Amino acid sequence: MARVLIGFMGAGKSTVGRLLSDQLYDMDDMLVERLGMPIKDYFAKEGEPAFRQQETALLEELLADPEAVISPGGGVVLSPENRQLLEGHEVIFLELDFDSLYDRISQDQGAERPLFLNNSREAFKAIFDSRQAIYKEAASLTIQVGDKTPEQVAEAILENSH
Ligand code: S3P
Repeated sequence: MARVLIGFMGAGKSTVGRLLSDQLYDMDDMLVERLGMPIKDYFAKEGEPAFRQQETALLEELLADPEAVISPGGGVVLSPENRQLLEGHEVIFLELDFDSLYDRISQDQGAERPLFLNNSREAFKAIFDSRQAIYKEAASLTIQVGDKTPEQVAEAILENSH
C-alpha cells in the first residue's frame, strides 16, 4: 500500500513527505523533469487538461510501487480516475485554513504555481473551497497542520497510520 500526501498548495506535502521517506516521489518535480519545463509554462503552452493527463499517467506508475511515499500536486484529487487509483492506498490529507495557506504560498515564490499566479485571491479561495470536501472524501487519514512544524506533522502521521 503506497502512502500519498494530499492537500492544497502550501500544505507541506513535499516537506513532510521528505521527512517520511528519503526516496519521496515528488510528483511536481518529476513532472517538471518529464515535461521539460516548469509547470507554469506547461499550463500556458498546453493547458491545464494536458497537465492533468500527465499527472494521472505518473500517479498510476508510482502507485505500482507498494512502498511508495508520494507527494502529488494539490489538484491530483480533481479527477475521478485519480481518486479511483488512490482507493485502497493510505491517503493522508494535510488540512490547513485558507489564510495560512495563502501566506505560505505568497512567501514561496520559487514554486511559481500557475493557479496562484493567474487568479485573484477571491478566485483562488473559491478553488480552495471547492476542493475541501474532495480531499476529505479521498483521505483515509486527516492531519490538522495548524501550527505544527513539519516534524510534528510527520510524527502525527506515523502515530496515526498503520
Ligand atoms: C496544483 C498544485 C501544484 C501543481 C500545479 C497545480 C493544483 O502543486 O501541481 O501548480 O491544482 O493544486 P503543489 O500542491 O505541490 O503546489
